[in-house]
Amino acid sequence: MANPITAPRGTRDLLPEDGPVWDRVEEVARDLSRRYALARIGTPLFERVELFARGLGESSDAVEKEMFRVSGARGSEEERAEWALRPEPTAGIVRAYVEHGMHVRPGPLRLWMIGPMFRYARPQAGRYREFRQWDVEVIGDPGPMVDAELLELGARFYHELGLADVVAHLNSIGDAKCRPAYRDALVDYFGAHEDRLTDDSRRRLRINPLRVLDDKALDVELAAGAPRAIEHLCDECRAHFDLLRELLDTLGVNHVIDHRLVRGLDYYTRTSFEYYVAGREGQQEAIGGGGRYDGLVELLGGRPTPGIGFGIGLDRTILALEEQSIVTPDSEPLVAIVSSEPDFARRLEVAGRLRDAGLAVRRPLRRARAGRSSWVATAWSCATWPVGSNVSYPSTSCRAPSGNRGDPAHPLPSQVQWRPRSVPTPAVSWAPARSGRGSRSPAGCIGAATTGT
Ligand code: HAM
Repeated sequence: MANPITAPRGTRDLLPEDGPVWDRVEEVARDLSRRYALARIGTPLFERVELFARGLGESSDAVEKEMFRVSGARGSEEERAEWALRPEPTAGIVRAYVEHGMHVRPGPLRLWMIGPMFRYARPQAGRYREFRQWDVEVIGDPGPMVDAELLELGARFYHELGLADVVAHLNSIGDAKCRPAYRDALVDYFGAHEDRLTDDSRRRLRINPLRVLDDKALDVELAAGAPRAIEHLCDECRAHFDLLRELLDTLGVNHVIDHRLVRGLDYYTRTSFEYYVAGREGQQEAIGGGGRYDGLVELLGGRPTPGIGFGIGLDRTILALEEQSIVTPDSEPLVAIVSSEPDFARRLEVAGRLRDAGLAVRRPLRRARAGRSSWVATAWSCATWPVGSNVSYPSTSCRAPSGNRGDPAHPLPSQVQWRPRSVPTPAVSWAPARSGRGSRSPAGCIGAATTGT
């Protein structure tokens, strides 16, 4: 046998048993996007390197260290060096906003997307080279009401998934008017303690002093004594922040002020936030984060337009759900066509009718090989129970599906009462079954259908 080829480091396959929890988180994100009147937007998985360099900042980790450059097999040297897989969606969305002249639409524009992002970081638990985000952006609203609305939306997402103890860390990093004075204060403070900084922080101090606060290895005492952004806000930024906090209290959004929260991307102004599971701040990275970017549209060639958004890390959200043992219910029940009827066309026709009625239909599972997990065997017994015949079970470990058609736990789904349309349909009888259950099952089997005699 040839050597098997493995997935690239830092990526993961989504296996059938992972489906239900991914379906669930994406379903909650989509449903909330609908309920918050957000419109879907899609942008390419790769963009010009310049977009990220300009938008996120040359000194951001995402650009400086983690950019996934892509090249076409052909094309000029210049063209080949030009693109990168997107490390985050905001820059691409704002690029699309400017490119399509979306400022003329009735605003503010409320947008969402779900998709993969790519960062070439050292893989570790919860840090992948390919990961998925639910992203929300509102472009054209200066806040702070919309800031509170989005912070509440993120918190609601975790709540609706059943994730407990989520807390939003909040800070304001000011704007172009007041941030320079804050930067100077940081340079003075950390400059006086350079010997206590890591090499990385010393470098950050020169390029982007705010990001020294972001250094996980920063001396705790030194960090505690550092100048605080909210103490350097101008009157407008201060008023914005105070009103936001008031609104969050009114809405009951669990939040704390985090003076070290500066975010890793350069486009942020004023409101910055990250979601954590309380008590896991040290061990785990943020499960989501975002903030205001009032200068980004202009930076990317548009008119001065405020914006705010967040990205929720779906991979990390799922890890957090698993840590809290939150089990996702089985997805769509499965019904399998079973028949002693040798006419395949007839079987397929019945399958089509049941699908018309909204049911999921598949062919019976093949017999599980010894050593395979038991749900395979269980689902097999369920899927192949032939109604009204006495064919024996294929595996002794299988549980018998209930032959009782009136089983209240598994009533005949009302959708099965379909009416024939143009083609004459064979009669379908129905045997409810109990098997095919279990949290890791790809789908619960609710019964077996067979063509009539
Ligand atoms: P971000 O904080 O870089 O923000 O990413 C948002 C979330 O994506 C993080 O909180 C984390 O849950 C997840 N994430 C980031 N990197 C990884 C990784 N390597 N592996 C797994 N999950 C990861 C942004 O991307 C901004 N675009 C958010 C935003 C939208 N700001 C304004 N609008």
